[in-house]
Amino acid sequence: SLIPVIAIDGPTASGKGTVAHKVALRLGFHYLDSGALYRLTALSALRRETDLADEHALAKVAEHMQVNFDGAEILLANDNVSAAIRAEEVGNLASKIAALPAVRQALFAVQLGFRRAPGLVADGRDMGTVIFPHAKLKVFLTASTEARAQRRYKQLIDKGISANMEDLLSDLKARDDRDTHRAIAPLAPAEGAHILDTSNMTAEQAIEEVLSLYARRV
Ligand code: C5P
Repeated sequence: SLIPVIAIDGPTASGKGTVAHKVALRLGFHYLDSGALYRLTALSALRRETDLADEHALAKVAEHMQVNFDGAEILLANDNVSAAIRAEEVGNLASKIAALPAVRQALFAVQLGFRRAPGLVADGRDMGTVIFPHAKLKVFLTASTEARAQRRYKQLIDKGISANMEDLLSDLKARDDRDTHRAIAPLAPAEGAHILDTSNMTAEQAIEEVLSLYARRV
């Protein structure tokens, strides 16, 4: 269809969230943080004390949760959960339930709904492979495990959340492993994706690079 999509995929803490959000602002496009949907499902399941072994029940949670991305804030049933969904515990559970086909199916339509004029920048693991395979531009953003752990560490400390580098490294590796090796929608560069290693780039440089790739595509 005519509404352009920029798909930005990559591993945890690769900087894709910052890059995608800023690219969207620069272009005046909408922004989808698809990881937040998995995190919201996880948080909602924890709060409702859903049986975490019940795939069907988790899919129901994903389907029926009242989500509102209101500017910079993310609301779950009118409760501002922007900070709560970033907790490591929630991220880890998100990555576990993201392996469940029924949960991914439930979130499929939700994600398509974010494609609105004049355009969308979507970030996640399967934006270019599964959700928006016809995206105008696909970028696979990566960085070394160490660079990503350092970024995550700084993010948490800046937010006043205590963090431990060794725990972060092992969490990152576990989550990468789960995201890369799951049977459904595994993390992998989409066909035609531009691979961008940001280990030695600032966020600003990565943003400029994506904007210039997009300018050359249209
Ligand atoms: O990107 P973020 O770390 O917020 O995503 C949380 C988890 O949600 C990831 O570890 C991944 O397992 C899952 N996810 C996914 N598909 C997406 C986005 C996130 O499976 N498109």
